[in-house]
Amino acid sequence: MTTPHSSAAAPHYHLQATPQAVASAAAEHVVAAAREAIDSKGSFLLVLAGGSTPKALHQQLVSQHAGAVDWAKVHFFFGDERCVPHTHESSNKRMAFETLLTPLRIPPVHIYPISTHLSPQAAADDYEATMKISFSSLQSPCFDMVLLGMGADGHTLSLFPGQSEVNEAKRLCIPAIAPAPFAIPERITLTLPAVLSAKHRLLLVTGNDKKATLQAALTPGSTLPIALARPTSIITDIAPAS
Ligand code: 6PG
Repeated sequence: MTTPHSSAAAPHYHLQATPQAVASAAAEHVVAAAREAIDSKGSFLLVLAGGSTPKALHQQLVSQHAGAVDWAKVHFFFGDERCVPHTHESSNKRMAFETLLTPLRIPPVHIYPISTHLSPQAAADDYEATMKISFSSLQSPCFDMVLLGMGADGHTLSLFPGQSEVNEAKRLCIPAIAPAPFAIPERITLTLPAVLSAKHRLLLVTGNDKKATLQAALTPGSTLPIALARPTSIITDIAPAS
């Protein structure tokens, strides 16, 4: 796995007035990247984020951009998953289907969920194989865009501060443990090598409760997982540090 896009350039910082404006701006970023990729290579490989922030983005894509992209050429992957059934309220797959994939009528063959019915290690191995097969069959060396969220502790995906998974340097997908007080400890997550190889890494973060963490992550030398993921763009309602 090459890391063609793991430049250490500073991220583009897009300050928006409200969380809804963040979602609207993010939808425009996704649509622009999708159209560029589809025009150039006939596909767009998008990694979805979990949690709650992406829901407003998904709502924008469905309500404002359903006709703006040839969605049948978009391939949907997951940045991480909780080891729960896909019917569980904490399932990232369930959230993605309810808010985005079903409303956009995405062909199931272009949706690549993480197989949480397997053991964590088997699910991670299976997903890494799925990624590699997809890159080859779609003639795309990497993901075109990875959507990232950030917890108030600076975690992203299921890469948590102080946990060993952040240090994985070879595997593309591994089991992970979310420390207390996170509800579902057993996770599957993409690793930094998988994320850093992507062309675009778009961080969406809202809420003043995350202000100090975002500013810490943007401090040179930060080892917070979200800093190590090197977002190429940040869309947020948090004003940058003066
Ligand atoms: C997850 C995400 C996780 C999320 C952050 C922010 O599966 O929960 O991968 O990294 O992006 O926890 O979550 P919110 O958007 O809910 O604040």
